[in-house]
Formats: sequence, structure tokens, C-alpha cells
Amino acid sequence: DQDSAQLIVAGLAHLEGATLPILHALQEEFGHVDPQAVPLIADALNLSRAEVHGAISFYHDFRTSPAPRRVIKLCRAEACQALGCEALVEHLAQDHGIAVDAHSQTSDVAVETVYCLGNCALGPAALVDGELIGRIDPARLSELCAGSDR
Ligand code: FES
Repeated sequence: DQDSAQLIVAGLAHLEGATLPILHALQEEFGHVDPQAVPLIADALNLSRAEVHGAISFYHDFRTSPAPRRVIKLCRAEACQALGCEALVEHLAQDHGIAVDAHSQTSDVAVETVYCLGNCALGPAALVDGELIGRIDPARLSELCAGSDR
């Protein structure tokens, strides 16, 4: 919250080049850097808000919203295409309103394209929170989006 963000900022503001240590500490604490922290940092370090925004967007490590609850890396390479992965992409869009590779950081579930997970015989394949899953069909994909166990 605002108070603990304030404490973190105040605790590190004396450092030389404090912007990055503060951003890292905020992300460590909250999982992302809330845009509301920008004026706090700017005031504490005598920077403009634009400079703080610039630092956040320059370093791709920083997120400005909470991480998605689940990340699905869907294989769309040749073998999985032959086994219907593009139908899964459409299913995601139509039934779940999820755009694959969308850059919006707000969705609960993020789906990203990958090219071959080495599981071609058991396609369509996906990595779900790091775990390999084969023979995904729309029903299974819906379960995964709903957050059920792998
Ligand atoms: Fe999808 Fe190899 S093409 S796992």
C-alpha cells in the first residue's frame, strides 16, 4: 500500500542513483511497480515524473500491474498447427476474450506463442506455468484458463 511504498522510497532515497534500487525494492515487495508510486519517487529524488516513467519503461523487468495469475505458452509451430493449435487460438478469443500475445498486462491469464516445445507427437502442446501439457483441446484449455489444476 501507499504507506509501505513510502517507507521503501524513503529508506533508499539517499543512495546514489536511487531510482533503480527503489524500483526493484517496490517490485520485490508488491510484485509490480504501481503507477501511484511514480510521484512518490519523483518527489523523493527531485526527478520529474517523466524521468521516473522513463526508467520504468526502459527496463523491461519492471511491471506496472500485477502479473497474470497463469501464463500459458501455446505452441504454434508446424506439428502443432497440423494438430489444430490455431483452432485453440480462436477458441481463446471467442470464448475467453483472450488475445494471444496481447501486450496488455491486465488479464488474469496470459497466453503467449512459442515455437515447438519438443512435444510434437502429443500436440497441440503448451507450457502452463512451466509444466508441459499435451493434446490440448478447447475443453481442457477452458479449464486451464479457469485456473483449474494442471
Ligand atoms: Fe508443437 Fe513441436 S511443434 S511441440
